[in-house]
Amino acid sequence: MIRRVSAAIAAGLLVAAGLAGCGGDSGSGSGNDDGKITMGFAQVGAESGWRTANTKSIQESAKAAGIELKFSDAQQKQENQIKAIRSYIAQKVDVIAFSPVIESGWDQVLKEAKDAEIPVILTDRAVDSKDTSLYETFIGSDFVLEGKKAGEWLVEDSKAAKGPVNVIQLEGTTGAAPANDRKSGFADAIKADPKIKVVASQDGDFTRAKGKEVMEALLKAHPEANVLYAHNDDMGLGAIEAIEAAGKKPGVDIKIVTVDAVKDGMTALSEGKINFIVECSPLLGPQLMDLAKQVVDGKKVEKRILTEETTFTQEQAKAALPDRKY
Ligand code: AHR
Repeated sequence: MIRRVSAAIAAGLLVAAGLAGCGGDSGSGSGNDDGKITMGFAQVGAESGWRTANTKSIQESAKAAGIELKFSDAQQKQENQIKAIRSYIAQKVDVIAFSPVIESGWDQVLKEAKDAEIPVILTDRAVDSKDTSLYETFIGSDFVLEGKKAGEWLVEDSKAAKGPVNVIQLEGTTGAAPANDRKSGFADAIKADPKIKVVASQDGDFTRAKGKEVMEALLKAHPEANVLYAHNDDMGLGAIEAIEAAGKKPGVDIKIVTVDAVKDGMTALSEGKINFIVECSPLLGPQLMDLAKQVVDGKKVEKRILTEETTFTQEQAKAALPDRKY
């Protein structure tokens, strides 16, 4: 762990003493002085293929960057993440990073980190705190745009449709930024075609098991459904099992659009069971470690760093699959 110096004092002290790098002793919120950055990372859980790839990226990048990583899995519970963050504060880590399971309810614990002079980096998901000084930066996707891309694809695809386009939406965890934003982006885009209607929308918690369970019930309640929009691949893959069990053909009787583009999703896309996937990149580790070094050094970083992403048709999935890393 390095002794962290509050940003403003640090800049002056390092220049005055000619001490580039770490080791200053005048900060208040710090622990040992072994010259190594320690990061406390509070992960959401292991709910999806995306999350597994994200965890791997963070762990491998920390190792490569020489950053000591303290890692916790909150099992999709906010209280567990708050506990983990408090424990990182007590351990006086140099930087805290986390992907907030839901958007609200973070101000108190973020204030505690700020009082301890430990910088916080948000990764993947946002918080709704009005006070943006509670975190240094937020790196991740534009989830509204992802929802919009899914909706725009459906509008385009529905141009040839003669009858109504009845959509079942499987939402991510209630209150999570990607669930809120992917829903609103999609809703905005499909306004362009009055034929398209969301006939049912329910929380599938971003997991395959819940996606299957919810889809089974919704298929019975809405036999008129002919499109599924799932906020991630895993829920879409669970829903495919339910669709097949109901004697329908995924990708044909029920067209499917999902978000993520993990290997399993891309495989289903290339097999024709999914029709379109909007990419959401989990490979945030290298950029996160880079940012961590900068904020620990007291450097100012961009407040919002966006991830670059694309979309995949069935043909594009076939071409991309052999090189897909996750
Ligand atoms: O926050 C990113 C989302 O969380 C991914 O789309 C989903 O698969 C994950 O669980």
